[in-house]
Amino acid sequence: MGRLDGRTALITGAARGQGRSHALHFAEEGANLALMDIGHDVDVCAYPLGSEEQLEETARRCRELGAEVWTGLCDVRDAERVEELVGEAAAQLGGLDVLINNAGVSSPTGLSNELSVESWRFVMGSNLDGPFYVGRAAANQMISQGRGGTIVNIGSTASFKAFYSNVAYVAAKHGIVGLTRSMAMDLAPHNIRANCIAPGSVRDDPDLDSRLLTAVAEEWDVPLDTYEGVFADYHLMGVLMEAKDISRACVWLASPDGDRVTGAIIPVDAGAISK
Ligand SMILES: NC(=O)c1ccc[n+]([C@@H]2O[C@H](COP(=O)([O-])OP(=O)(O)OC[C@H]3O[C@@H](n4cnc5c(N)ncnc54)[C@H](O)[C@@H]3O)[C@@H](O)[C@H]2O)c1
Repeated sequence: MGRLDGRTALITGAARGQGRSHALHFAEEGANLALMDIGHDVDVCAYPLGSEEQLEETARRCRELGAEVWTGLCDVRDAERVEELVGEAAAQLGGLDVLINNAGVSSPTGLSNELSVESWRFVMGSNLDGPFYVGRAAANQMISQGRGGTIVNIGSTASFKAFYSNVAYVAAKHGIVGLTRSMAMDLAPHNIRANCIAPGSVRDDPDLDSRLLTAVAEEWDVPLDTYEGVFADYHLMGVLMEAKDISRACVWLASPDGDRVTGAIIPVDAGAISK
């Protein structure tokens, strides 16, 4: 028996990286899945985004684990498309119990006095507007079902601290904290819980097609192992996070074990914010 038997989870940014890891962990625990990703690159972003093929690969691996899976290509910045696809996913899968608001970007970076409006809007759109749009649509779906639900927003160490030349990312990830606490307050009467997991730096894993640390290292023109070393040192425990560390926390919050947890901002960061 899985801890998520009978639950249906929507995961954004599921083509690769942590989103793929969450999908695989949820499938192993018995959940059915709605998987979304943008599925194409965006010029302003310095690195390639997840592709349709990668999204289908995540879906294939989850089906192999026994999950029923629906996939949809969706830029979370597009509120209308989000509404349409959340409705479609719920109709296909018999409702929605869990949202993992995972999609996000770490590019472009830039100083607070220099970042272009276009760059600011891309990062804020993907990392804060998107989680609000998907969260709103998912919450209304859950309210209409009348059986409660749970929302997990993915923050970052940047939800607590500034990082040099990263104004839009830091502002958006701080915003996720406010979004989470507001959702927890507004949705508690409907037995819908909202929490935030704030990961430390997560190692890129070839099995998950992860790109984020590699992309940032390229943007800063630093070799990946040097960059990984800098971020490992940033954690009290001196190690990088693995995607599975974040997935296990998402499973816990989505399972009955998390039933009385709401409004919590939970670092899963090997002690980064305590250093
Ligand atoms: N990697 C890290 O070290 C780290 C640390 C802390 C927090 N995070 C956060 O974890 C989440 C997942 O990051 P990851 O490391 O797996 O990165 P990743 O780049 O490997 O995966 C992110 C996925 O989100 C998708 N995506 C991006 N913008 C989108 C949009 N507008 N609409 C729909 N899909 C979109 C991408 O296509 C990609 O498949 C992000 O929210 C990120 O900010 C990452």
